[in-house]
Amino acid sequence: MGNTNNLVVNQFQVSKHLIYLNHAAVAPWPKCTADAVKSFADECLHEGAKHYPRWAETEQALRAQLAQFIHAPSPDDIALVKNTSEALSMVAHGFPWQAGDNVVISDQEFPSNRIAWESLVPQGVSVTQVSLESADPEQVLIDACDAKTRLISISSVEYASGFRVDLKRLGALCKQKNIALCVDAIQGLGVFDHDVQNMNIDFLMADAHKWLLAPEGIAVFYCSEKWRDQLQLHEFGWHMMQDHYDFNQRDWQPAQSARRFECGSPNMLGIYALKASLSLIQDVGIDNIERQVLQNSELLFRLIRESKNLVLLSSMEKGRYAGIVVIKHKQLDTETLHQYLMKNNVICAMRGGGIRFSPHFYIGEHALRTAVELADNL
Ligand SMILES: Cc1ncc(COP(=O)(O)O)c(C=O)c1O
Repeated sequence: MGNTNNLVVNQFQVSKHLIYLNHAAVAPWPKCTADAVKSFADECLHEGAKHYPRWAETEQALRAQLAQFIHAPSPDDIALVKNTSEALSMVAHGFPWQAGDNVVISDQEFPSNRIAWESLVPQGVSVTQVSLESADPEQVLIDACDAKTRLISISSVEYASGFRVDLKRLGALCKQKNIALCVDAIQGLGVFDHDVQNMNIDFLMADAHKWLLAPEGIAVFYCSEKWRDQLQLHEFGWHMMQDHYDFNQRDWQPAQSARRFECGSPNMLGIYALKASLSLIQDVGIDNIERQVLQNSELLFRLIRESKNLVLLSSMEKGRYAGIVVIKHKQLDTETLHQYLMKNNVICAMRGGGIRFSPHFYIGEHALRTAVELADNL
C-alpha cells in the first residue's frame, strides 16, 4: 500500500481467515472507529451526557468535515440524516413539482433511488428509466429529458454493475439544461473525490456503512443553498428549529442551514464513529484511496482474463469502474459459486447476475488472488 502503510497499520483487523470483498454491502470498521465507539460508550456508562456541549461541537465539526470532503461551500449545506433512502425521500417529497413534471433515472438504480421517485406518480410526476448501455450514457440521460424534466437522479457508481458515471460531464449537461442533479453517492463516496461544486451537483446523499467505513444509520445529505428553502419540509421537531436549544420559544423558524432536515436528537454514536472513519480516509487521502481501489479492480480484471472458468460482467473501460467488480462462472450457477465462496470465507455478494467483489483500498493482492483462484477452481 506504498506510502499509506504507516497511516493504516493496525487499522484494519478483519479476521485473518476472512477475505473481505464486500464493502459495497456493509464494510468492517477500522480500529480508530471501533475505539471511538468504545470510548463514547465508556463515557456514557460513567458520565452520561455530562459533556453534551462537547458532543454538540463534535456534531458541528462533522458537518464541517463532510463539507470539506465533498467541497461544499459551507457546513450549512450539510445535514446528518439516517440513511441514503431518507435523504432521497426528502428530495423527492420536498421538491417543488408541478403536475406533468418528470424525473429521469437509470434502469440500474438501487430500489431506494427508484421508488422514492415512483412514489410521486400519484402527484402527477412521472419517472423515465434510461439504459446506461451506450457509448455515451451521460448524453443518453440528457437526451431522455424533455421540457418537463426537472431532475436527474443517478448513482455515482451503480450498485449491481459497478458502472461509474461521469458526474462532471453529467453535471455540466444538467446545468446547461437547467435540470437539477441528485447523486446517490453511497457506492462512490470514500472511493473517489466527489466535488459537488465542480460537478454541479444539487443534492448528494450517502450512508456511512459502505466505502466510508463507518456504521449504518448515519448519512450525509448535501443540499445546495439554491434548493435549501425550496424543499418542502415533512419532518418537524426541536432539532430543526433555528434556535434549537431554546425550548420556550413559541415563534419558531426552521434552521437557515441544512439542519432544518434533522428533526430530532442526532445519532451521536454514529457521529463519533463517522468522524473517526472520515478522519482516517482524509489522512490517507482520497486520491491515494482511489488509486489503490482502481489497482485492485484492475488486478481482478487481469486475474479473470487469465482464469479458465470466469467471465467479467462489469465494464473495464477506463473511467467506467471504481471498486465494484462483477464476475460469473462459465458453467456454474451464481448461487452455487456464492455459497462456495462464502463457505470458504470469501465475503462477497450476489448482484447484477453474478458475484460482486468490492475490495476497499486496504485489501491486498494476495486476498484477491486467493478469491479468484477459489472461484476459478470450483
Ligand atoms: C446505490 C445504493 N443506494 C442506496 C442504498 C441504500 O442505502 P440506505 O440503506 O443508506 O438507505 C444502497 C444499499 O445497498 C445502494 O447500494
